Amino acid sequence: MSGLVVAMDGPSGSGKSSASRGIARALGLRYLDTGAMYRAVTWWMLERGVDLADPAAVAARCHEPALEIGTDPDAPGIGVDGTDVSGPIRSKEVTRAVSAVSAVPEVRRRLVDLQRQIIGTGDIVVEGRDIGTVVAPDASLKIYLTASADARARRRTAELTGTSTEEQRAEMARRDELDSTRKTDPLAMAADAVELDTTPLDLDEVIAEVLRLVKERIT
Ligand code: DC
Repeated sequence: MSGLVVAMDGPSGSGKSSASRGIARALGLRYLDTGAMYRAVTWWMLERGVDLADPAAVAARCHEPALEIGTDPDAPGIGVDGTDVSGPIRSKEVTRAVSAVSAVPEVRRRLVDLQRQIIGTGDIVVEGRDIGTVVAPDASLKIYLTASADARARRRTAELTGTSTEEQRAEMARRDELDSTRKTDPLAMAADAVELDTTPLDLDEVIAEVLRLVKERIT
């Protein structure tokens, strides 16, 4: 891994996606949204009627969907079997089901392999839950974003339609619990990550702070 790899981990609503894209844009790097990959596999399983409560059924079919993942921070599209699923993977149904699918070890093995291939020699910002711990333990810089439950729920509510802050808070608490207690590669902060609490910061401030860390650590 010769180029720069910035690992951006943290729970949903911590501001990872917007910050990661902004950082990639500012530094002229590629961008990889690993959550979109878990969502795309989940979307495919729901379309095929796979029983998501049965990990063996999910494991048996997880190699079937052909994934195409874009790494342009301005337009990171994602396709499954030739269909653009950038919109559908953000649906409530996928969001509710994705933690169960991403807890299945075979799914993780497949997607972590794919993520490492895409990262290749680097020059990329990678966002997820296990980037600093599992996918890219040698990353040049590891950031772990956090924010208060209130701030996270408010941000998610502003991004979505037809939901309330209360509903989002409950949904996030459920997903955090599942993502951080699963046996394989749970959401966790790497020992050498820099923790950044984004609660009092706006997006530009988060980006500026990470760019400052990149400069300080890497140049
Ligand atoms: O970041 P997101 O909300 O789009 O991620 C969707 C789900 O995918 C998340 O609830 C857990 C899973 N995920 C994961 O297990 N590992 C990653 N590196 C990224 C996401």
